[in-house]
Amino acid sequence: MDLSHVIEALPVTAWHGPFDPLLQAQTLDALEDGRVLLLDRLPFQILPQETPLLSPAVMGSERKNISFDAANGRIGNTSLSGSDAEALGRMLRRFGDAAEELLRDLLPRYAPMLERARTSFRPAEIAGRTYSPRHDDRLLHVDAFPSRPMSGRRILRLFSNVAMDGAARAWRVGEPFADFARQFLPGVGRATQASAWLLQQLGLTKGRRSEYDRIMLRLHDTGKLDATYQSHGPKADVAFAAGSTWLCFTDQVLHAALAGHCALEQTFHLPVDAMAHPERSPLRVLERMVGRTLA
Ligand code: SIN
Ligand code: FE
Repeated sequence: MDLSHVIEALPVTAWHGPFDPLLQAQTLDALEDGRVLLLDRLPFQILPQETPLLSPAVMGSERKNISFDAANGRIGNTSLSGSDAEALGRMLRRFGDAAEELLRDLLPRYAPMLERARTSFRPAEIAGRTYSPRHDDRLLHVDAFPSRPMSGRRILRLFSNVAMDGAARAWRVGEPFADFARQFLPGVGRATQASAWLLQQLGLTKGRRSEYDRIMLRLHDTGKLDATYQSHGPKADVAFAAGSTWLCFTDQVLHAALAGHCALEQTFHLPVDAMAHPERSPLRVLERMVGRTLA
């Protein structure tokens, strides 16, 4: 696969505007077209006193990442406490603030509707770990989460590689969403309203899982579990250098993270109607394919 169709390099060197309207238009179009925007000259600055935080030792044992909720300052899955945990929280908040300011200035169309969600810190090396296939993000997938129904809302994620040893973050990207979905849609089955209701009643989902969410989860799982697709499907590998930043709609771009450590990530959610081209969203693509409303 030709990477030039997937990666769009942008000459951004500051975490805030003003930005050229032409650059803003290019950013919007490439993003909604399912490309990864590469800001290879936009490092996130780690303060000297923060460098001890860039270690897998700051992570707890529950999950593969540390999460941070800026709304309440809570950090999930850290081994740190007291002033060390506070320093980690300050670093994650500063990153989230920078990411939010960048997106508001670079994508002004989204600003009124952009919702800042979790921040994550991914200190551990990805290569060589063991995961169950469903949880293995080294396999190509689009993002879909069992407990968090999106009902078609977009998942926009911004990453910065802050590895101190210069290690790149190795990603793999795949074919356009519609081509992927067309192949796996026949295997997603049919929903029962009772199961969505039951999941909500049991507290397994935050809100009712829509048919869109059910299909996206099935695409996520069946795509990862298909070894032939993983090894022979269209793909290209890309290395994000230490000191670079990149973003994409991870519910649309087929991606896998193969190797690397110490990435920061900020998630945003966006209603489909805030897009310049809502018809390119996974929700609308899937609705056209199945011929009915999904959320
Ligand atoms: C993923 O979203 O699948 C993982 C991305 C990363 O941690 O680089
Ligand atoms: Fe992912």
